Amino acid sequence: MKTDTQTKAIDVFLEENRRFPPQEAFRKTAWVQSEEIYEKAARDPEKFWAGFAEELSWIKKWDKVLDWKPPYAKWFVGGKLNIAFNCVDRWAKSSLRNKAAIIWEGEPGDQRTLTYWDLYREVNQFASALKKLGVKKGDRIAIYLPMIPEAAIAMLACARIGAVHNVVFGGFSAESLRDRINDAQAKVLITADGGWRRGKMIALKKEADQALTGTPSIQHVIIVKRGEFPLEIQEGRDHWWHRLMQNAEAYSEPEAMDSEDLLYILYTSGTTGKPKGIIHTTGGYLTGVYATTKWVFDLKPEDVYWCTADIGWVTGHSYVVYGPLANGATVFMYEGAPDWPEKDRFWQLIEKYGVTIFYTAPTAIRSFMKWGTEWPAKRDLSSLRLLGSVGEPINPEAWVWYHQHIGRGHCPVVDTWWQTETGMILITPLPGITNLKPGSATKPFPGIEACILNEKGEKSETGGGYLAITKPWPAMLRGIYGDPERYVKQYWSKWPNIYPVTRKTENTSLCNGVYFPGDGAKRDEDGYFWLLGRVDDVLNVAGHRIGTMEVESALVDHPSVAEAAVVGKKHEIKGEAIVAFVTIKEGIQKSDSLVNELRSHVAKKIGSLARPEDIIFSADLPKTRSGKIMRRLLKAIAEGKVLGDVTTLADPEVINRLKQQYEET
Ligand code: WT7
Repeated sequence: MKTDTQTKAIDVFLEENRRFPPQEAFRKTAWVQSEEIYEKAARDPEKFWAGFAEELSWIKKWDKVLDWKPPYAKWFVGGKLNIAFNCVDRWAKSSLRNKAAIIWEGEPGDQRTLTYWDLYREVNQFASALKKLGVKKGDRIAIYLPMIPEAAIAMLACARIGAVHNVVFGGFSAESLRDRINDAQAKVLITADGGWRRGKMIALKKEADQALTGTPSIQHVIIVKRGEFPLEIQEGRDHWWHRLMQNAEAYSEPEAMDSEDLLYILYTSGTTGKPKGIIHTTGGYLTGVYATTKWVFDLKPEDVYWCTADIGWVTGHSYVVYGPLANGATVFMYEGAPDWPEKDRFWQLIEKYGVTIFYTAPTAIRSFMKWGTEWPAKRDLSSLRLLGSVGEPINPEAWVWYHQHIGRGHCPVVDTWWQTETGMILITPLPGITNLKPGSATKPFPGIEACILNEKGEKSETGGGYLAITKPWPAMLRGIYGDPERYVKQYWSKWPNIYPVTRKTENTSLCNGVYFPGDGAKRDEDGYFWLLGRVDDVLNVAGHRIGTMEVESALVDHPSVAEAAVVGKKHEIKGEAIVAFVTIKEGIQKSDSLVNELRSHVAKKIGSLARPEDIIFSADLPKTRSGKIMRRLLKAIAEGKVLGDVTTLADPEVINRLKQQYEET
């Protein structure tokens, strides 16, 4: 759950009843101008989604919109289409041929613009190159790249030939990359010699080489040459991207994909030590991201759209690549850090490229706040017309700051709630009609049905509880790669007895399997949703999802560690920071250097995003009599709060000792 202070701040705003209604100038030209759409979509969601699907290009039209056998949904059953064709060919063969598809700037300031025609050429050639290496429909391809146009080209080329991409964030460690390659049994790895971050060279291929010592499924490695980065080439296995492109055919026939064929696997953290490979398929996914990109961002042909997410996260998949390109948009992409070389880099880019839509994360916004208003004030941000937020709850203070200092008071702010699993935005304002309340993601997108349930599955109209999604949606996950049991258990079994999975709803043939996202939420008297953060053992650190168990496994992997318990504590910028309570083995000495070693060990095992903020040595960990670590108590200690009930503890003294010790550090 999110912290009390956030809830308090929200309450203050609610009391003041602050609203930000759409401005007339915006409303007048918006795609959605009337509330009626909610009712219309609710009356017949299948018809509503089919309307968007009809705006895409299909090789064969579907026979049936939805086949829902909870918890398995098939969308646009029997339909055939190709996503790369929809995102690229369609526009390259139209009057948009010369429109910029991707405008890119590297951190050092190098620039590239690819028109839809250029993108068409690149995607075709790279698709041919993959085929020449023996890649076939259904093969898994790992992508480990910086934010460069080749990342999008590689994804689209996979989609073109029906290969399944598995993008791994460039900030993940060699071990994380290796696990993801092995779980997906990827045949090819696409990486780069390196990339730039805060003026430093990140040697990606070197990291990848470590992973490649234990990845028997990999037959080929393709390396983009980003700069002059030192690297080793393994003859026969490693190929330069540009060399392959020189010898590739100019055209590669797009594969006719079944609507339910796999598009990608993307790993995300859960409540165990092992990340889950979330599966997304073709027709429903594209329909969902196409529709939400168009309506949530009110995307128009003349927009320059910038989503700052890395391609390694779902936001990069749905709202850097597939959603915007399926709309024929101009996407701006930037490789590096927001504070390089100065803290106004983002604002300078917005000014330079005339960015009109800007979509980023609350953690970034809080950093901007800390850096001060002088940085955005120096730049001309008048091209902006809409702002977005995603990744974690946005505190009302940050919302208002964003609205005022970046949006200059005239841009709607869309706070969009969704997940890797949902594939598409599910709870969000519609900028032309929603009266915005800072801190609230407002309402489910038309056609989406959500509610708040308590532990027993009873609906709460205004109180707090668990967020539940009660109807299937087109971009929903289709499973966990190789683990169907975990899929059912994790997402569809929270309230098994309350909602029999085959229940019919009044107006449609949809069944009511209930999806449990793992988030706490509450609703106010206007029916607005307020997301309150995770309710499971999952942390959200700077908008990135990390499982406490993953960090714990990384810690106990260290030879000095006997046991570890990881919790999150509130952090001013990151939202949540990692605190680890560690029991060391007999005979090992506590020391500052051991703390540093353990922090680095976690970074090495998972990636630096998982590096614990604090490590506290503890002779014992608080456990219940059945041996379960009481993380709730540890969290309270980490946040300096009053401890609740400790009577279920096997040894109540443990907690007092720990508390005292934590207060001393
Ligand atoms: C978790 C999903 C969706 C892409 C980025 C993260 C939290 C996400 C919001 C929001 C409150 C949010 C939730 C969710 N979250 N957006 N607008 N308001 N919380 O994707 O890594 O799959 O994480 O991020 O807790 O469950 P992800």
